[in-house]
Amino acid sequence: MTRLLRAISIHAAHAARLIGLVAISFPAAADSNSLRPEFESYVLHCSGCHRLDGGGVPGVAPDLREIGPLLQTAAGRAYLGRVPGVAQAPVDDEELARLLNWILTEIAGTAPDPAYTAREVGILRAEPLRDPVAARRALSTPKL
Ligand code: HEC
Repeated sequence: MTRLLRAISIHAAHAARLIGLVAISFPAAADSNSLRPEFESYVLHCSGCHRLDGGGVPGVAPDLREIGPLLQTAAGRAYLGRVPGVAQAPVDDEELARLLNWILTEIAGTAPDPAYTAREVGILRAEPLRDPVAARRALSTPKL
């Protein structure tokens, strides 16, 4: 085997382990053939900072399992579409709306009602928050 082929097969083994881990962490997210596209998107664009289970890393990225209460106010709902990690994700409005709905439902355990639409997300992300930490502090939710 050439060195390149060996490197590729090592990557494939890592990927297989990751997907296995994913299926264990989120059994509902994995069906028999493929993972939900929202979950793939989460792994690619968000999990590096927020970790696979959404638990975050203290001092690096907040715990996404705690964001459900933000949906209780219009300001909190808007914040979730404007926080830079969301607003500037390299996906289109349609995929971002599905991703945000998926995170809230599967990771935070709080399905947004109504669900975010591509149109709503498009309007929110057009104005990313310049000071997300201050904006977050200004929101009053029971869990803050
Ligand atoms: C480079 C690291 C990084 C990546 C990648 C990232 N985030 Fe974040 N995220 C942060 C940080 C840091 C914050 C805290 C606010 C801030 O400073 O922007 C945050 C805040 C958030 C919040 C608000 C949480 C709260 O409690 O206030 C949400 C929701 C969120 N991110 C979702 C996402 C999504 C969805 C993705 C992927 C599309 C993503 N993030 C990618 C670092 C990241």
